[in-house]
Amino acid sequence: MRTVIAGGHGKIALRLERLLAGRGDRPVGLIRRPEQASALQAAGAQAVLCDLEGAGVEEVAAHLEGAGAVVFAAGAGPGSGAARKDTVDRAASVLLADAAERAGVRRFIQISSMGAGRPPGPGGDEVWAAYIRAKTEAEDDLRARDLDWTILRPGALTDSPGTALVTLSDPPLPRGQVPRDDVAAVIAALLETAGGRHRTLELTSGDTPVPQAVRALDS
Ligand SMILES: NC(=O)c1ccc[n+]([C@@H]2O[C@H](COP(=O)([O-])OP(=O)(O)OC[C@H]3O[C@@H](n4cnc5c(N)ncnc54)[C@H](OP(=O)(O)O)[C@@H]3O)[C@@H](O)[C@H]2O)c1
Repeated sequence: MRTVIAGGHGKIALRLERLLAGRGDRPVGLIRRPEQASALQAAGAQAVLCDLEGAGVEEVAAHLEGAGAVVFAAGAGPGSGAARKDTVDRAASVLLADAAERAGVRRFIQISSMGAGRPPGPGGDEVWAAYIRAKTEAEDDLRARDLDWTILRPGALTDSPGTALVTLSDPPLPRGQVPRDDVAAVIAALLETAGGRHRTLELTSGDTPVPQAVRALDS
């Protein structure tokens, strides 16, 4: 299956690309810096240049032709200000969903964040508040669409080696951490099943093996 990953050089995206390529799928990563292409190739993914803050819907839709699924793994990242939370974490997800509809790609997995879905607490950091608003609005946009969407809200991400043991369930989960390895493993498993469609799921480290956690979504 051809799977297009927006934010293709992200830390989760590269892990996901390795997993998908390793099982014989065809991952494609959308990146905005040509110098990142070699890292995607090393992960087994095709790199496509596409700046999601500059591209139009037709351009993005053209990159999605023939795909079986789309994953939104982009983010403005640490060090970015409130404006880019809006242009990437919200608007780039909306653009990707518009493009998925245009290209007829129904399966859409969005990486959101725990904390989304409710107003940011008063008196907090302004950039954090902008991030939570952007993620919440991107989620709301996706839920309203006729797509086979799954919204995945990981807890705080770490670069610790994955344990493949998680808690994956409807909100709210207690706050927690999760290795990026395990987020990628959950997305790879979600892409193989009909379970999880039209669900908003929170994800932290836990004690359920990833395949079992994802299979349980079917019941
Ligand atoms: N940090 C946490 O604890 C946490 C917790 C929960 C959820 N999340 C979310 O999880 C997601 C993935 O996390 P991660 O750690 O894998 O993120 P990451 O390593 O920061 O990757 C994000 C990717 O998005 C790309 N990007 C930014 N602007 C773009 C644009 N205009 N066009 C195309 N690509 C663009 C970046 O590329 P460049 O190199 O070009 O900037 C980067 O490769 C993010 O949405 C993040 O908000 C994070």
